[in-house]
Amino acid sequence: MRAFVTGGAGYIGSIVARQLLDSGHEVTVYDSLAKGYREAVPARAKFIQGDILDEASLSAALGSGKFDAVLHFAALIEAGESMIDPGRFFKNNVTGSATLIDAAVKSGVRKFVFSSTAGLYASKDTPLNEDDPLGPASVYGETKLMVEKMLGWYHEVYDLRYAALRYFNAAGGFSDRGEAHQPESHLIPIVLQVALGQREHVSIYGEDYPTPDGSCVRDYIHIADLASAHLLALEALEDRPVMTYNLGNGEGYSVKEVIETARKVTGHPIPAVTAPRRPGDAARLVADASRISIDLGWEPRIPALETIIASAWEWHSRHPEGYSTE
Ligand SMILES: NC(=O)c1ccc[n+]([C@@H]2O[C@H](COP(=O)([O-])OP(=O)(O)OC[C@H]3O[C@@H](n4cnc5c(N)ncnc54)[C@H](O)[C@@H]3O)[C@@H](O)[C@H]2O)c1
Repeated sequence: MRAFVTGGAGYIGSIVARQLLDSGHEVTVYDSLAKGYREAVPARAKFIQGDILDEASLSAALGSGKFDAVLHFAALIEAGESMIDPGRFFKNNVTGSATLIDAAVKSGVRKFVFSSTAGLYASKDTPLNEDDPLGPASVYGETKLMVEKMLGWYHEVYDLRYAALRYFNAAGGFSDRGEAHQPESHLIPIVLQVALGQREHVSIYGEDYPTPDGSCVRDYIHIADLASAHLLALEALEDRPVMTYNLGNGEGYSVKEVIETARKVTGHPIPAVTAPRRPGDAARLVADASRISIDLGWEPRIPALETIIASAWEWHSRHPEGYSTE
C-alpha cells in the first residue's frame, strides 16, 4: 500500500511510519517541521516538507504518487495552548484538515486514518466507551471533533473510508524514536526531564479534582501498541468503511501515581510542586477499548505503566537532548 503520512516527523507519526515500512508499505511523509524533526522520519520514507494549509503544495505532493491511504497526524496538540490562542488551533487543525481531506479525495485517495483524541469526551468516573457523551474541555478537543464530523460528510458524499482513532495518552519509546514535543507539555517526558536534571521539578496542576488523590487521572498507552492499531485499522478499512475506536489500556493513573512510578524506574527523587488547575484539563479520561479489541482483535501488549515509563526512560537517557533541531 502507498501511504501518505502527515505529521510523520512527529512522535506518533514517525513511529507509525516506521511500522508501515516494516510491514512492506511505501511511505511518504508530509510535515512542515513546525513541531517535528527531520531526524525522526524513517530513512526509507520519502520526505516532503510542506504545510497542510498550503493547498498547492499538498495537491502537488498528493499528485506525486498514487496514494491508497492518508494517515493524518499533523496537528497542534497542546490543549492548554488552545485555550490561550484558539484561532491558531482552529486554523491549523480544522482548516488544515479540511484542505487535506479535500485534496486527498480529489487525488483519488479512498482510505483515511485520523488521529483523534480522548479529549473530545466529557470527563467520567468509569472507563469511556465510544457511545459516551462528547464534551471537549478544550478548543483542541473541539478541533478533533470537528474533523471527525467532516470525515463523516466526506464518507457520505465521496464514499471515503475512514477510521477515527481516539488516542488516550501515548507514551514510551520505540525503534530509537521517542517523545519530544516542542514545547514539552506531556507528563511522562516532563517527569523524565526532571530525572535528567533538565528541570528542577514537575508541577501537579490541581490537587482538588474529584479523584482519589485529587490529581487528574489519565490512561497511558505504549506507543508500539498505539502504532500497531493503525496497521490493523488500515487493513480493516477494506471491510469496514467507517470506524471510530478508543485506543487506551483501560487503566487510569493519577499524575501523582505517574510521578511515583517514575521515581521507582529512574531512582531519582523527582521533586513535585502543586500548581493551580490548567484550563482545558478534564478530571479523568480512561478508555474502554473493548470495541477495537472485539472488532479487530487489537490488544495492548505493553499495558503496565512501569514498563511504559521504563521504555520512555531508556529513550530519554540515550537522547537527553531529544532530536537535533537542524
Ligand atoms: N501524543 C498524544 O498522547 C496524543 C493523544 C491524542 C491525540 N494525539 C494526536 O496525535 C497526532 C500526533 O501527535 P504527536 O504527539 O505525535 O505530536 P507531534 O507534535 O510530535 O507531531 C505532530 C507533527 O505534525 C506536524 N504539523 C503540525 N502542523 C502541521 C501543518 N500545518 N502542516 C504540516 N505538518 C504539521 C508537526 O511538525 C509535527 O511533526 C496529533 O494529531 C495529536 O493531536 C496525540
